[in-house]
Amino acid sequence: MALRLLHITDIHFPDRPGDLLYGKDCERSCRLVLEQAFGRYARFDLIAVTGDLANDPTGPMVYRRLSALLSNYGVELICLPGNHDHVDWLRSALPCPQRFTLPGWDLLCLNSQIPGSPAGNVAESEMTWLEQELAQASDNQRLILVHHNPAPTGTPWLDTMTLANGKRLLQLAAASSVKAVLHGHIHHAIDQTIDGIRILATPSTCVQFLPGSKQFSLDDKPPAYRVLTLSASGEMTTRLHWLDEKNINAGKAAASRRLPHGV
Ligand SMILES: [Fe+2]
Repeated sequence: MALRLLHITDIHFPDRPGDLLYGKDCERSCRLVLEQAFGRYARFDLIAVTGDLANDPTGPMVYRRLSALLSNYGVELICLPGNHDHVDWLRSALPCPQRFTLPGWDLLCLNSQIPGSPAGNVAESEMTWLEQELAQASDNQRLILVHHNPAPTGTPWLDTMTLANGKRLLQLAAASSVKAVLHGHIHHAIDQTIDGIRILATPSTCVQFLPGSKQFSLDDKPPAYRVLTLSASGEMTTRLHWLDEKNINAGKAAASRRLPHGV
């Protein structure tokens, strides 16, 4: 039976229940995403979360609350930090492995956070680790997971935050026949192939950004999630799902919290 992976990202889970982000209740939309994903598919082998699990947290509790929600589903879980996360608090509450192995597949997870900055860069030590991992002979297929986009997306204000060493990452991936790079950060969907490497971005489980905009602009697209099917023979298929907007309730009136770093 093929493996089924649920990719969610940019949850921006609030410090306090009911806090809104751009008028959206990100806790509620995360719950809806999970409910609808598991309602549609019934079974997943793994949930992968590629950063911005919390929205500039003031303490570790937000990650414990999110962990409690995700653990309800009894599915293996891997997470990695985004620019809005507190890395130590995240790692204290949720699993953040560098490598996670499923039958026939290795998932390699990178930390692209530059503390205090919305931009992304993978530390040299992690790039060296990745290079060594990819240099090892393996029959397994490989996926690379990272928060920031490794290549420009065609949205100028977001492209200023493109992963600084994304080009090198893609060169390493191409040299080792990596199946795909999964990322978040840009709050919209991407499915493109660069130098033979498929790059998949999944929109946020909460608010979306308008593709192609020169300046910060919100999109009215609903929350989303991506499903990847990974076969034992190395085939990968993917499908993106948007929630029905009628199911999204922005929540009660409260001051919208702004994202201080833009994303
Ligand atoms: Fe984000």
